[in-house]
Amino acid sequence: MARLESKIHEVIVTSLSNNGEAHSAPMGVSEVNAHIIIQPFKPSSTYENLKRHRQCVINYTDDVRVFAGALTGHRDWPVLPCNSIDGYYLESALSHTELYLEQFEDNNPRSRFEGKVLSEHTHAPFRGFNRAQSAVIDAAVLVSRLHMLPHEKIQQEIAYLSIAIEKTAGERELEAWGWLMDKIDQAGIILNND
Ligand SMILES: Cc1cc2nc3c(=O)[nH]c(=O)nc-3n(C[C@H](O)[C@H](O)[C@H](O)COP(=O)(O)O)c2cc1C
Repeated sequence: MARLESKIHEVIVTSLSNNGEAHSAPMGVSEVNAHIIIQPFKPSSTYENLKRHRQCVINYTDDVRVFAGALTGHRDWPVLPCNSIDGYYLESALSHTELYLEQFEDNNPRSRFEGKVLSEHTHAPFRGFNRAQSAVIDAAVLVSRLHMLPHEKIQQEIAYLSIAIEKTAGERELEAWGWLMDKIDQAGIILNND
């Protein structure tokens, strides 16, 4: 199996909803003893889905709209059926891993699922790092914590991240960034756009 070399990898976990539809959410995952560790907060749809249906997909995608979209109400991404499990993977995935969740710890506030890799599939090559993509991921993390962070911290971090957006963003990153800025605006946080 391909190793997750860094401590935490930001991926999209696609689980199966009660009604059989794909549900995709950004999660930070890690690897321990060749198993993938997923830790969804409670309450969340991913937690409920993984508890009920012990199978899921880890999608490795550079389409950061999927990350930003999960936090801003844009969740309707094309999916394809899996090979080894009952589930779906993102059409935009560069590669994906199909997991069977062998272990489950119902911890608070974060549950812990340990997934055995059943199969791995590569669809497209990795074309290198893009700073705007990283900026969108970081801004998405900020948006997921809007309720707990001081406004000043959000203003400072967005001012810094927007430099990478201005210099290196393509259309997908600009669209994702726009959704996140709208969400920050709706929370009543004023950003300096000079
Ligand atoms: C980069 C990134 C990493 C995240 N990692 C986690 C995680 O490990 N666990 C978690 O519960 N939420 C994580 N979140 C927040 C969830 O994606 C977000 O709350 C989402 O709405 C999941 O909720 P749902 O399963 O109800 O859709 C992360 C968000 C981002 C942008």
